[in-house]
Amino acid sequence: MDAINPVTPAGTANAHAALERLMARGAAFFGSRYALMGGAMSWVSERHLVAALSNAGAFGVIACGAMEPDRLAEEIAGTQALTAKPFGVNLITMHPRLEQLVETCLAAGVTHIVFAGGIPPGSAIKRAKEGGAKVVCFAPALALAKKLVRSGADALVIEGSEAGGHIGPVSLNVLAQEILPVMAREVPVFVAGGIGRGEAILSYLEMGAAGAQLGTRFVCATECIAHPRFKQAFIRGAARDALPTVQIDARFPVIPVRALQNEGTRHFMEHQAKVLARFQAGTVDKDAAQLEIEHFWAGALRRAVIDGDVEQGSLMAGQSVGMVQREQPAAEIIAELVGQAAAALAARPAS
Ligand SMILES: Cc1cc2nc3c(=O)[nH]c(=O)nc-3n(C[C@H](O)[C@H](O)[C@H](O)COP(=O)(O)O)c2cc1C
Repeated sequence: MDAINPVTPAGTANAHAALERLMARGAAFFGSRYALMGGAMSWVSERHLVAALSNAGAFGVIACGAMEPDRLAEEIAGTQALTAKPFGVNLITMHPRLEQLVETCLAAGVTHIVFAGGIPPGSAIKRAKEGGAKVVCFAPALALAKKLVRSGADALVIEGSEAGGHIGPVSLNVLAQEILPVMAREVPVFVAGGIGRGEAILSYLEMGAAGAQLGTRFVCATECIAHPRFKQAFIRGAARDALPTVQIDARFPVIPVRALQNEGTRHFMEHQAKVLARFQAGTVDKDAAQLEIEHFWAGALRRAVIDGDVEQGSLMAGQSVGMVQREQPAAEIIAELVGQAAAALAARPAS
C-alpha cells in the first residue's frame, strides 16, 4: 500500500515551492506572483476587484465591455491608483471603437490586452504589440489557436462551456486535451470555465496549462462592487442552476450565455415564443424578429450586477457557482485556491 506523506510544515513549504514552479511560466508572463487571472466580467471587473486581485498576487483584468475610450481611460487610471501591480484590460472585438480602445490601453501603459468575443482583427493584434503590450486571445478550437498564434497572440485562454457569460459549445475537459498538448509548447495557455478549487488548477497545470482564469469564484470578493443581492444569488446558487440560454427556433439563433435561472430567463422563452408567433403570422419580418429577440437582454447584466435586480436581470455565472459559499476578501480566495493546490501536492503518496 502507498504511504501517504505526513503533511509536515516542511512538506507544505515544499509543496508551495513546487506549485510556484508549475506556475512559473504563467506568472512570469503576467509579472504576477501566481498564474491566476481574474476573468474579466462586464460591470463586475472594475477598478476595485481588479486591483484587489492584483494586490493579492493574481492578475486582475478590467472588463471594458461597452465602455467608450474616455471611460476606459478613467477606469485604468482608477485601477493604477489602487495597485502598483500589473493588470490587464479585456476588449470585446466587436466593439465599434476597438482601435481607439487599443490606443487608450497603450497610452496608459497597460501591459496586457486580452481580446475576447471573437477573433480579433490582425491589425489590432499588431498595433497592441507594436505599442508594447502583450496580447492574449481566446481560442475556441485547435485550428483557431494555431491561427491566433500565427497572427501574433502571445498567450491563449481556452474557456470551456462550464464558464459564466457567453460560452462556446465545448467543455474545458475536452478543450484542454485537444489544445494543451499541441499549443502549450508554443505559448502560455490559460484554462478557464468551471474552476472553483485549487486541486483542479493543479491538474490543469500538470497537463501543461500555464495557469488558470476564474470569474465566478471572484464575484463574492469583499472588494467586488456587485450588488449584495447579486452576491447572495451566487452564494445560494448550485452548479445545476447555472444553465445556458435556450433557443426555441433554429431560424432565430440565440448566443448561448450561462446564467443562473430566474424570472428573466423564463420570460426570455415566452418572449421568443411571442416573437416567433408574430413572425409566423407575417406581422414582423425575419430581421426585425431577430433584433427583438436580441434586444431582450440589453442592459440586463448591469441591472443585476449594479441595481440588484436579480429577478429580471442577467445572473451570468459559471457552473463553479456552487463553490462560492460566502463573501471573502480577494486575498483570502487566492490563498484558499493556492492552499488547496499545494495541499493536494503535499498529500501525494511518497514515491
Ligand atoms: C458575470 C460575468 C460576466 C462576464 N463578462 C465577460 C466579459 O465581459 N468578457 C469576457 O471575455 N468574459 C466575460 N466573462 C467570462 C469570464 O471572464 C471568465 O472567463 C469565466 O467567468 C470563467 O468561468 P467561471 O465563471 O466558471 O470561472 C464573464 C463571466 C461572468 C460570470
